[in-house]
Amino acid sequence: MSNVRSKIMGVGYYVPPRVVTNDDLVKLYGIDTSDEWIQQRTGIQQRHYVDPGVTNADLAVEASKKALDAAGVKKEEIDFILYATLSPDHEFPGTSCFFQAKFGIPGVPAMDIRNQCTGFLYLLSMANALVRTGQYKRILVIGSEVHSRGLDLSTQGRDVAVLFGDAAGAAVVGPCAPGDQSEILSVHLHADGEHAKDLWLEAPGCAFHPFRLPKDALETRSIYPQMNGKTVFLNAVRRMPEVVLEALKHHNLKMSEVDLVVPHQANLRINEAVAKFLSVPEEKFFNTIQRFGNTTAATIPIGLSEAAAQGKLKKGMLVAMPAFGSGFTWGAALVRW
Ligand code: UT7
Repeated sequence: MSNVRSKIMGVGYYVPPRVVTNDDLVKLYGIDTSDEWIQQRTGIQQRHYVDPGVTNADLAVEASKKALDAAGVKKEEIDFILYATLSPDHEFPGTSCFFQAKFGIPGVPAMDIRNQCTGFLYLLSMANALVRTGQYKRILVIGSEVHSRGLDLSTQGRDVAVLFGDAAGAAVVGPCAPGDQSEILSVHLHADGEHAKDLWLEAPGCAFHPFRLPKDALETRSIYPQMNGKTVFLNAVRRMPEVVLEALKHHNLKMSEVDLVVPHQANLRINEAVAKFLSVPEEKFFNTIQRFGNTTAATIPIGLSEAAAQGKLKKGMLVAMPAFGSGFTWGAALVRW
């Protein structure tokens, strides 16, 4: 067994320039909602949407440039691309392949996963394991989403549509130099497929017969994400604290030893409940949902980048990163920054 340890060498993110406020959702799309309802229930003030012609892979290219800069790594050094998205540019091949060509690193292996809001953590777990074996040395971990083109931006879809925004986040994962205290300590992952249909996008899919895109997909709205919001909420507030405590127990650490929590951002009210359950003071719980909405797999690298830029995330800190989402999938990473 190799004794290589692994760390996050640098993070970066990118959001498209177009800001869509809560009032814009009413004005531009005619959705029967209000800034007051959205802020009260979710904390979201605005999100970003791509302009025509911009793809999921385009967002990832910009985020990756920033992550590489922060890590001090050249793109030629990247030896694996791991890509999480639920809003791929095309059904196949994976968006990681389109990204690889745009980013200009031919020959580098490229892999997509579909683990929604927990996607970044699933990839971090893989990257951590692959670096520790010594097989890869500079892994580019990406979470990128173009939600705006998949949402039902009408009153019928308002419960889901108001929540999500477009963005990409990226991290470079590599080995620790001797004496470097920074480290991915561990990532703890879970799933419960019994809840798969509580937050899902049904069509297109090969479960349909005889053709994967049913003729009535628009009328039945099976082409839009559907959510059982209350069930998602209740499970999120239970699972996120649970998995943070599991991670801490694994290392015989206490919650009071955690310097910063950088959680997934599904709903500010979920995070407030998680913070309360874990007795984490507000200043140790880093939220970004107000400006970006829920950006699924991009969310945690956005949080890490913003926290670092604001001077709230410093070298040597113990950082916990919990996430929960569709699947249901959930998990938590514990990192020495
Ligand atoms: O990563 C995981 C992603 N998803 C989540 O984490 C979401 C978790 N769930 C939630 O955050 C909440 O369930 C929501 C914020 C989505 C909804 O809050 P809620 O308190 O569960 O609302 P509700 O679905 O029970 O709806 C309450 C009312 C309904 O009207 P009636 O039936 O009481 O007349 C809805 O039609 O609010 C209405 N409503 C809205 N009104 C204005 C639902 N969405 C909206 C909206 N604007 N956007």
